[in-house]
Parts: sequence; structure tokens; C-alpha cells
Amino acid sequence: MPLLAPDIGIDLGTENINVYVRGRGIVISEPSLVVLDRENSHTVRAVGDEARFLYGRAPDTLIAVSPIRNGQIADFDIAELMFKYFIRKAVGVSYLGKPKIIVSVPCGLDDVNRKALTEAVRMAGSKHVFLIEKPFAAAIGTGLPVYDPIGNLVVDIGAGTTDVAVISLGGLVVSQSVQVGGNKFNDAIADYLRRECSILVGSQTAENIKKDLASAMPLDEDRTILVRGVNQLNTSAGTVSFSAAQAHEAVKSPCAAIVKAIRWVLERTPPELAADIMKSGIHLTGDGARLFALDRFISESLGIPVLLARDPGDCCILGIGYLTENIQLVTPQDKRSRPTLK
Ligand SMILES: Nc1ncnc2c1ncn2[C@@H]1O[C@H](COP(=O)(O)OP(=O)(O)OP(=O)(O)O)[C@@H](O)[C@H]1O
Ligand SMILES: [Mg+2]
Repeated sequence: MPLLAPDIGIDLGTENINVYVRGRGIVISEPSLVVLDRENSHTVRAVGDEARFLYGRAPDTLIAVSPIRNGQIADFDIAELMFKYFIRKAVGVSYLGKPKIIVSVPCGLDDVNRKALTEAVRMAGSKHVFLIEKPFAAAIGTGLPVYDPIGNLVVDIGAGTTDVAVISLGGLVVSQSVQVGGNKFNDAIADYLRRECSILVGSQTAENIKKDLASAMPLDEDRTILVRGVNQLNTSAGTVSFSAAQAHEAVKSPCAAIVKAIRWVLERTPPELAADIMKSGIHLTGDGARLFALDRFISESLGIPVLLARDPGDCCILGIGYLTENIQLVTPQDKRSRPTLK
């Protein structure tokens, strides 16, 4: 039996979990979802891909739980169970020693939530837990020189949060996390349809509209699609036509909230680092950043070049992967703020 399990990196997303195993690369990309039996809510029926598959087929007999919301643990027991499942799936159980695990967190996560997350991962089967801010990991994943004495500005837009950070000399200089992301775009589209078109749609319909029609900038050519939902007035099935201009109107407000968060960070950035950022631009990561023309909207709002990373949704786990391979670069959560004698 091998002695030590290989170290693991986990990008803990509101929507997706990615797991990296040292020496092997990314081994898991699955939804962060658990389904329970509706009759007996102590019975877990499935986790990750299987949970999504099962819930899609028998939603009446199951309860779907997302144990991570906006980068925080929403349900401790279910989260621990989900970690256990993914750790086992990633490295198996045939090891005597437990792995070290690096986990991504939003910027500014408070001590209570840091401790809860550390504890849940430790209970699930880890020796040491290291928490790494998402934009720091994403910056490494998109190839930025985070350890150099220059300013790098990264905006990681996920499903639950947008994390903005200026990074220099291996640390976060100024950062901000706001609860705006892909889910807020979906909500804004569903709200608009309810308010302006009197039609109720589910989150999957809103998600499809976001990906197929919505744009952060007004489009030259207006396109229209038919949206099916439930008529709010007489609760019968109904269809309305919905234009790209309306979809743009719907997502305007969450787009503006992202720009506001970036501006907040820029206003607090030391001038030398701000000068670097004006030259090298703002780097967008996270799959939420794939909203059409969001890069152009941010660039035109702030007057700074914006670069959307290649495979934005993978940047965070690739950065965590780099740190997993070079674990000496990180400090364990449980050794962080302890004073030491020289
Ligand atoms: N083409 C696209 N256009 C717009 N949004 C997209 C597109 N593809 C994916 N998304 C959105 O990206 C979000 C998922 O991104 P990601 O996987 O980076 O989030 P996460 O890491 O799970 O969440 P978080 O980091 O906020 O906890 C979802 O809201 C999804 O709808
Ligand atoms: Mg993420």
C-alpha cells in the first residue's frame, strides 16, 4: 500500500468543482451538486455529474442541494460529504497518509467561513488545508507574473461571485469580492421577462438566453427569439418574442455592478501598480466572463484594455494545479496567523 496520497487542488465553485491531482493534472470537472432522497433527506443519492443526471430525470423524488454558495459553505454536512466523494474519486482510498489540499476561496472570506471550510475539507480526509484566493490562482493559471514587482489586475467572474484583485510580489494588494456572477445574469433575465413580458421562466431557460442572446453592449443588429414559459396572468403555457435589445437591457445592471467593483479596487491601487495595469490591461477569468461583449463593456467603461483569458473557466484550477505541484509556495491555513519566535 503506498504511504502518501498525492496532494490535491480543488477549485470550489458555486456551479462547478474542478480537482487537480499532483503529477496527474485536472482529473475532475463536475457540478458542485448533491441530490438527496425527498422521502429521507439523510440519504444521499448522487454527487456531481451523476447528481445532475439523476435530478434531470426524477426531480419529483429528489432534492438538489448546492452545498457551496458564493464561495462559502451553505450546508456543512453535505459539503463534507461532497468533498469526501471527490477526494476518493480523485485519488482512491488505498493510502495510509492523508493528502495536503489546496482550496480556492473568494477574496475577503471571513475567519468563521475560512475555519468552516478548512474543517469540512479536513474531516473529508486531508492533513493540511491551504486556502488560496480565486483571482490569485486564476492569475497564475492565465500566465501572469504574480511573483514579480509589477501590478496585475485579475477579475474572476464565476457563477456566484466576481473577485477582483491587484496582485504583486506574490500577494493580493487590493481586492474585492461581490456576489455578482453568472447566476445574477440569469436572475436579471428571468426578472425582466416576468416584469416586462409577464412570463415566468426557469433558470435553465434564462441561462440559455444569456448564452445565446444576451450581450453586455448594445448590438448593431437586433435578433429575436421565442421564449417559452408560464404566463404570469393566467398560469397557462405561453410564448413571447424576446429581442437582443431586451436581453441587453436585462443584464445591464449586473454588468455595471462588476465595473463598479473594478473601479473600487482601482481607486485603492497604489499609483505605480495602477500604471502597470493601464499598460498591461485587466485580465478576465472565470466562465461568467464569457458573457458576450463583457470585455468590451469593461474596457470602454474604464478606458483600460481588457483581455479575456483563453478557457477562462479553467484558469483558477490551472493556477491551483501549479501551486499543488509547488506546494512550498503556499502556507497551511492552520499555520497562517500564528506568531513565531525568530
Ligand atoms: N458562453 C457563456 N456566456 C455567458 N455565461 C457563461 C457562458 N458559459 C458559461 N457561463 C456562465 O459561467 C458561470 C460558471 O462559471 P464558473 O465555472 O467559472 O463558476 P464557478 O467557479 O462555479 O462559480 P464561483 O467561482 O462564482 O463560485 C455560470 O453562471 C455559467 O452560466
Ligand atoms: Mg470559480
